[in-house]
Amino acid sequence: MIILGIESSCDETAAAVVEDGCIIRSSIVSTQIEVHHKYGGVVPELASRMHMEAILPVVTEAIETAGITMDDIDGVAATRGPGLVGALLVGFSFAKAFAWARGLPWTGVNHLEGHIYSVFLGKTPPSLPFVILLASGGHTNLYHVTSANDFELMGQTRDDAAGEAFDKVAKMLGLGYPGGAIIEKLAEKGNPGKIRFPRSYLDKDGFDFSFSGLKSAVARHLQQREEELSPGDVADIAASFQAAVLDVLSFKLLNAARVKGCDAVALAGGVSANTALGRRVARDAASKGMTLALPPLSLCGDNAAMIAARGHRLIKDGTLCQLDHDVFSRTRI
Ligand code: KG4
Ligand code: ZN
Repeated sequence: MIILGIESSCDETAAAVVEDGCIIRSSIVSTQIEVHHKYGGVVPELASRMHMEAILPVVTEAIETAGITMDDIDGVAATRGPGLVGALLVGFSFAKAFAWARGLPWTGVNHLEGHIYSVFLGKTPPSLPFVILLASGGHTNLYHVTSANDFELMGQTRDDAAGEAFDKVAKMLGLGYPGGAIIEKLAEKGNPGKIRFPRSYLDKDGFDFSFSGLKSAVARHLQQREEELSPGDVADIAASFQAAVLDVLSFKLLNAARVKGCDAVALAGGVSANTALGRRVARDAASKGMTLALPPLSLCGDNAAMIAARGHRLIKDGTLCQLDHDVFSRTRI
C-alpha cells in the first residue's frame, strides 16, 4: 500500500511516499528557516503563505523521486494538528482535495503520533512496549507506547519545551535561530562542568519537566558577568547548559521505563538529533540493561515520512477523515 504523506504544521513543507508503512520511497522537506531566521522565531502568517507556494512543487517532487505516478497512490495522510492553524490548513486542505479528486481514502494524522512513528522507520525499531521521549521546539512529552495505537502520556513540560530552551539560550548568547544544532556544535568545544546550572527534576518520582528555571539561570549568569565573553566562555556556557538538559531528559526517560517495566526506550523530535543526547541515553540505558531506538537523523525534525507511516496504520484500520473534518491547533494524546 503506497501512502502519500503531507506535513505543514509549522515551518517545514514536507511530502513523502511510503510503501507498506515502512519503506521510504521519497521524503522531501522544504524548510522556511531562512525566512523566519531574521525574526528570531516562526511568523505564522508568513509560514502559511510559504506553505501555499511550496506545497505543489514539494508533492510533485515527492511523487517523481519515488519513481511512481499519481495512479500508484493508494491513500493520503496529512497532519491535522497540533500546530499553527493557518499552516496546517494548507497541507490538510491539499490532502482533502487530492484524495477527493482521485477517489482515495485519506486520513488526518496527529503530529505527535507521527513523531512517535518516526522510530519505526529507523534501522532498529523498538519492540513494544516502550517509553519514548518526544522532545521538540513545542513539546517535551513522555509516552508509554503499548500497541500501534496506544500512547499513554506519562508526563510533559510545565513551561518551556526542551528545544525551546535550546532556542532561547542560543538567542541570549547571540547565536541565532534555531539554536539546538548551534549549541550542540559549540558544546563540543566547551567544558560541561564549568558552570553548575540547576537541574529541575520537580518531583523526582514524577514525569513532568520544567526548563524555565534553567533558562533564567543562564540569563542571570550572563547578567552577572562584567567582562566580555570570549569564544571559550560561550562554549563553556553552551556545554554546561546542554549537560543540565541532558541529565534531566535521560533520568526521566529511563525512570519512566523502569516504572513501566519496559526494557526499550526511544527518542524522537527535533532534539533527538542531538548526538550528545543520543550517546548519553544509550550509555545510561545500557547500564540498566535497556536498549535505545532512534529515528534516522533525517526524520528527527518535522517530515512527512512519519506522517505517511502513521497514516498507513490509520487507513488500514479504517480511521478515515471526511470532507467536513477540520484541523486543530492543540491536543493531547
Ligand atoms: O521537531 P522539530 O523539528 O519541530 C517542532 O518543534 O515540532 O524540532 C525543532 C526543535 C528546535 O527547538 C531546535 O532547536 C531543536 O529541535 N533541535 C535541537 C537540535 N536540532 C534541532 N536541539 C538540540 N540539539 C540539536 N542538535
Ligand atoms: Zn514536530
